[in-house]
Amino acid sequence: MVGLGCAVLAPAPQHEPAAAPPLPAFPNPGQLDPGLAAFLRSSADQLCRWWSESSQRSPLPLLSVLPQVAPALEGLDAASLLDDLQLVMDGAFNPVHPGALAHLDPPPLTASVAADLICAGLNNNLLAEELSPSLSRLERSLTSWMAASLGLGDQAGGVAASGGSLSNLMALVVAREAAGLRRDSSALVFCSADAHVSLGKALAVMGLPAAALRPIGVDAAGQVDVQQLVAALDQAQTEGQPVLAVVATAGTTVRGAVDPIAAMAALCRPRGIWLHVDGAIGAVFGLCASQQQRVPGLGLADSLTVNPQKLLGITKTSSLLLLRQPQLLAQCFGTGLPYMEPSWAEAHGGECGLQGTRPAEVLKLWLGLRQLGMRGIEALLGGAVQRRQRLETLLEPLPLQCSSGPLHLLAFTPRHADAAVAEAWSQQTRQRLLEQQLMLSRPLYQGRHHLKAVLGNPHTGEAELQAVAAVLADSCSSLASFCP
Ligand SMILES: Cc1ncc(COP(=O)(O)O)c(C=O)c1O
Repeated sequence: MVGLGCAVLAPAPQHEPAAAPPLPAFPNPGQLDPGLAAFLRSSADQLCRWWSESSQRSPLPLLSVLPQVAPALEGLDAASLLDDLQLVMDGAFNPVHPGALAHLDPPPLTASVAADLICAGLNNNLLAEELSPSLSRLERSLTSWMAASLGLGDQAGGVAASGGSLSNLMALVVAREAAGLRRDSSALVFCSADAHVSLGKALAVMGLPAAALRPIGVDAAGQVDVQQLVAALDQAQTEGQPVLAVVATAGTTVRGAVDPIAAMAALCRPRGIWLHVDGAIGAVFGLCASQQQRVPGLGLADSLTVNPQKLLGITKTSSLLLLRQPQLLAQCFGTGLPYMEPSWAEAHGGECGLQGTRPAEVLKLWLGLRQLGMRGIEALLGGAVQRRQRLETLLEPLPLQCSSGPLHLLAFTPRHADAAVAEAWSQQTRQRLLEQQLMLSRPLYQGRHHLKAVLGNPHTGEAELQAVAAVLADSCSSLASFCP
């Protein structure tokens, strides 16, 4: 019988490798913890490796293995945690790949990644001042700076939200409150036929019928037809239907068209109608003198959605709702927070929007913008537009109908093909592109499937654009074979 005291042990190695210091569950409040520091360094190394190998993987991995999901009885050590993380990373969408051209999801700005880590580590809460003293102030200052930079005036400001859908929802809730229409279920919202689906969602949350959203037709450039909007507003007035807001889009989702904001503002002002601009895609172009002409009239908005996550590379989520009169936020959403000390400013963050507990998303926006500087921002915006223009030029000889705008998006579909052919063509061509590690998206636009390229990825170069054009030329040459 072998007792515990006389178990046969493997001979100890001459020089035992130093055991990794254990990973503590929580940071040590009294001293630097080598196990924690090593774990964070290893996580950062793993991420840097993942980025550095991006071009060897496809933008869209097809197969991936998920690690075990439920916690085991005993907690895992650092090495096992990193192994499990790697499995998830292996199956992740790969935005750093130069051929990632499908969506409004660019590579992450490196300073904003670091800020996200610090944000998690600080674990502050934008709900209330005492849970985020410096960060609440930073949010107020940065939203004011952004709003003033985009032309909303010296008194303007806003709040960060988890995505553009939420910013749009909050804007419409504030607009309804400002118009005194909270209890009126007959109120209407007018927007472009190409406006983002989040507006429909917002109205549903607000308890309004789907028919309250009145899409206005667009012209050949994808911009709201102002004459149609005039007729619709006049009709609403004649029929006694109140208008809650008009929404202009600065950068439509499929082609990046920018509505005629100034003309829409000129219609709204005399009628006392709130003008919201959904600039989730395009408003960032308003930050630079050399790019502002792509989104004219932003400053005429009563409220404006901006999503720096979509082109500037601020890590998700990063969206702001900006208002000419930011005090309307607290007037609309203020409830009092009886379990908190009073706010040191006009209102707690948790009373300036729909969210209560919020992470300090402002930190990565602030640090990312500081990393880029105005020159860097300008270079990112300008580079994206140049790539769109270059791809458009490369596609000119092909039998494709291209839809674009002044920004960095380009959608196209075979000219003269019916909807079924467009669907089959887009599906098969997207697959062929993916085989070459080029990822485009496939939106349904104006009743026909398109392929869409979003040229916001700064790693995309001439080689990728040429490769996209070559695949498209090849697939266009065999259009007849795309019958469903
Ligand atoms: C024009 C526009 N507005 C709003 C949104 C919604 O933004 P999010 O996905 O951040 O909620 C999008 C998303 O693509 C968009 O294209």
